Amino acid sequence: MADHGPGTVRHDAGTGTWVLYGRTTAYGLRLTAGSVWHVWWGPALTLDQVAGLPLPPRDHDDILGEELPGEGGERFGPPSLQVAFGDGTRAVEWVPGGHHIDGGHLRVTLADRHYPLHVELHYRVRPDSDVIERWTVLRHTGAGAPVSVSAVDAASWTVPAHPVHRLSYVGGETKVEFQLQRMNLDTGEFTLTSRRGVTRQEVNPWLIVDRADASEEHGQVWSVALAWSGNWRITTRRTLAGHVTISAGSGPGEPAWRLQPGETWQSPMCAGLYSAGGFGATSRQWHAYVRAHVLPAADEVRPVFYNSWEGCGFDVDEAGQRRMARVAAELGAELYVLDDGWFSTRTDDRAGLGDWWPHPDRFPDGLGPLIAEVHRLGMRFGLWVEPEMVNPDSRLYHDHPDWTLHMPHRHRTEIRHQLVLNFARPEVAEWAYTWLDKLLTDNAIDFLKWDSNRAFTEAGWPESADPGRTLTDHTRNLYRIIDRLRADHPRVRIETCASGGGRVDLGMLRRADQSWPSDNTDPADRMAIQEGYSQIYPAITMGACAGDSPSPVTGRASALTFRFHVAMAGALGLSGDLRAWPEPDRREAARLTATYRRIRHLVQHGDLYRLRPAALDRMTVVQYVSADAAETVVLAWRLFTRPREIDVPIVCLRGLDPSARYRDGERGVVLDGAVLMHAGLDLGLPPGDQASVVWHLRRDPPG
Ligand code: DGJ
Repeated sequence: MADHGPGTVRHDAGTGTWVLYGRTTAYGLRLTAGSVWHVWWGPALTLDQVAGLPLPPRDHDDILGEELPGEGGERFGPPSLQVAFGDGTRAVEWVPGGHHIDGGHLRVTLADRHYPLHVELHYRVRPDSDVIERWTVLRHTGAGAPVSVSAVDAASWTVPAHPVHRLSYVGGETKVEFQLQRMNLDTGEFTLTSRRGVTRQEVNPWLIVDRADASEEHGQVWSVALAWSGNWRITTRRTLAGHVTISAGSGPGEPAWRLQPGETWQSPMCAGLYSAGGFGATSRQWHAYVRAHVLPAADEVRPVFYNSWEGCGFDVDEAGQRRMARVAAELGAELYVLDDGWFSTRTDDRAGLGDWWPHPDRFPDGLGPLIAEVHRLGMRFGLWVEPEMVNPDSRLYHDHPDWTLHMPHRHRTEIRHQLVLNFARPEVAEWAYTWLDKLLTDNAIDFLKWDSNRAFTEAGWPESADPGRTLTDHTRNLYRIIDRLRADHPRVRIETCASGGGRVDLGMLRRADQSWPSDNTDPADRMAIQEGYSQIYPAITMGACAGDSPSPVTGRASALTFRFHVAMAGALGLSGDLRAWPEPDRREAARLTATYRRIRHLVQHGDLYRLRPAALDRMTVVQYVSADAAETVVLAWRLFTRPREIDVPIVCLRGLDPSARYRDGERGVVLDGAVLMHAGLDLGLPPGDQASVVWHLRRDPPG
């Protein structure tokens, strides 16, 4: 008999064990022997069963399995807490400091045996999700010297020991973001990290561990994702005996900072998920969690957008954008986004960042007339900004050279001819909020593309009383500014961008509606980018453009239909110089946009099944299903043709009602759910390269 409900925490006082119950899974921890230990992460067990489990074994001479391993004693793994007290002591020794349960929220407090430091381990579970949220709070409980803090993780996770483990994550670069990597996890430590000040393209802050036997459909999978958009680190450690820990936190490599007497400091949140349903179920559960508990406006439908960057670069002015906007509206765009080049003296990347007023020659009457025209055409208006940056060639830098991150007697490294403003400085953060607030107050802007195009170097603040806090405070103030803007301008929606997909993470998605995953719109590359993106982040957040051909990034030509069909797997956008698209292409694009508008509720709010992953071959099939299984859309893309006998065009669908029949209205065919799921759907891909199809099936008759 189950003694627990989803989204609850149970406590066994006799053993000091807590069990957190998610929708179908359980997570167990125990306070004993001077620490909080991990005891269970998997299918739901009863409180008695978890209370009866042993503590994690030691590995030879190493203490393993603590929920937040500090320094001291026989701890030789990556420390999740590194502090130094006034007299130089660095080890921590804990005594219990109490616990508190409030619904699905558990707080366990540890107090240092001698020094005035408390650490609180926080956990939260919810009835509708198996994702566990964790974070750490430090509290200086004394009056004397500050405590120096070099590291405090959000969480350390323990994955059950096993002879083999495999790691999945995404790696990439600008224009090649979110490439899915899988590798065996060998003995030692493996770190994914960003030291760039932003989330980074090279790796993204999540990882997945399985036993090298999981597939899309089957297998036990443990995954974690960190909600932080500055510097971060996720370290996986595997011992020879097969014990795996994953620690995740913000700020690696930044100078130590001082926790002041009486101060409380909270880490970013790290979320973890156990799933028994393979990579596919893992992704669906993350998507559901992000939609239900992370995104600010997940119920809304994302509009079909146009973005000017691919088609115009810096070459934007009122007359040209009016022409472009007319075509975008004709093609079905619902949001028109004016990218870089609209302000100050900006005609290339050498000047203007920081001076946020309309370019006097390009927009002589301000942005008002263009915005009015875009609205008249029935679209919302969006604008590109890069608030954290400044070109040395700008009035702002001339007036406030001290507002950038810098160090005395060191060069200020310029990347893309720009420097980073120090948002940790309250007056800089206030300046940014003020001009953005005025921009949004004075203009009927509906959407901001928030960009950030360089890494942070010489990340100092000479006048700071505590320089170790600078980068953390920068990211916190970035969050505060966006949160404040959203509160003060509730109509405004936000897109997160950092030279493409360099700032996509759960921290940013808490305040951004969608992302710009890559500047590369070539559908051949997009297939892999989208597959990596979809491992954790849902399609509703994934801006996906059908752009120009040949692709300005790769030079590869691609068919219009193929470009659209691939982009339909996310929040569809249009890019490129639409003014130059021939009339037949425009007509076809308008038809395809209309198709997307009919299926987007499934893509944006449905469950994703990767029926044929891109990694398998050059044909990819994805399916999105409504929660009630009444409707589904299948998108299939074959990049290049192969002999028919090895290019199997039949796929078994998932998530349908086997007893129902489904009609594809456009094709006029009705198919049995059981047949679609067990015998499969013949996709009917047209011959040739870059072949693609959309199947939109609805329960027939509707239930
Ligand atoms: C980098 C982004 O990835 C592009 O989409 C574009 O917004 C440029 N910045 C503008 O400078």
